[in-house]
Amino acid sequence: MKKNRLILPTLILALAASIGAHAQRFTTIRNGLQWTDTRGEMVQAHGGNFLQVGKKWYLIGEDRSRSWNPDVNLYSTTDFQTWTFEAKIIENGVTHPELGRSRMIERPKLMYNAQTGKYVVWCHWEARNYGASEAGVFEADSITGPYRTVWTGRPIDTKSRDCNIFVDHDGTAYFISTTDENTNLGLFTLSSDYHSATAKTVLCEGMRREAPAIVNIHGTYHMISSACTGWDPNQALITTSRNLHEGWSTPRRIGDRITYDTQASSILTIAGTKDTTYIYVGDRWMDPDLPHSKIIMLPIEFDKDGNMQLNWREEWQIDLKRGTWRDVKKKKK
Ligand code: GAL
Repeated sequence: MKKNRLILPTLILALAASIGAHAQRFTTIRNGLQWTDTRGEMVQAHGGNFLQVGKKWYLIGEDRSRSWNPDVNLYSTTDFQTWTFEAKIIENGVTHPELGRSRMIERPKLMYNAQTGKYVVWCHWEARNYGASEAGVFEADSITGPYRTVWTGRPIDTKSRDCNIFVDHDGTAYFISTTDENTNLGLFTLSSDYHSATAKTVLCEGMRREAPAIVNIHGTYHMISSACTGWDPNQALITTSRNLHEGWSTPRRIGDRITYDTQASSILTIAGTKDTTYIYVGDRWMDPDLPHSKIIMLPIEFDKDGNMQLNWREEWQIDLKRGTWRDVKKKKK
């Protein structure tokens, strides 16, 4: 008798605990705020990308605290709330004295090469007047460094500025950059060690696009890019193709007129046990100045025809384990 009386309260407690655990699985992404690291300092990782290693996501990006001549920082997180400063992997004129002090790095992107077991960074390697139009490549045995210089120059003799990397499901990596004085996009296939560009395909010819970000979803490549308007935001466009090298659709608009005051830096894939969420990661530059530029993360949505959509959300929630996301439930007043 006594035993039976305990069953109902026990069940209620178990149910409450499971609802609690479920609620806890979601982490809230709040957009527009300054991120702070565990030292209490501003997270400085602009124009970068994420690399997942086990349960950690590493974030590489430009340290813009001195505005010009950015260094390259590396942070890690397990929940997109707590940001641990890992290392300043490239410090202008210090860690790589052979490269001098006068150049600057923009849009550093980190990838892991499963064949060589090395971490490789490709970036825009520029002079103050954007006249150099070069790329830079760095490599390390451990994700936190030290990174050694592999190469700097123009990939396949092509003037190259704003850039990104794209690693396909088969491990083939590409460097994609704004080429020929901001006229075209160049898609450069990388060697198997990711050290050099071995082939070039011209994309978006004459369209003057930059800040490209590519993702492969079930064999369809989606590429978001911006117009070239410096630090000012503009309307992002999206184009798709089943083949990276040809057949790209006529670009169409995505997001609002100024892409919610952002410019793409990367597309982050969160593959969970239940689903996969694709996240648009963008820079809100000059908010209000370069060092205080914000990182904005928005869940990518798809309409019934599979077209990507981008909607503004001040806050939203993601379950990193299950790979699902949801809107924040508004509390009833
Ligand atoms: C933007 C570009 C940034 C940076 C900036 C400088 O168009 O996306 O990476 O180069 O211009 O004005």
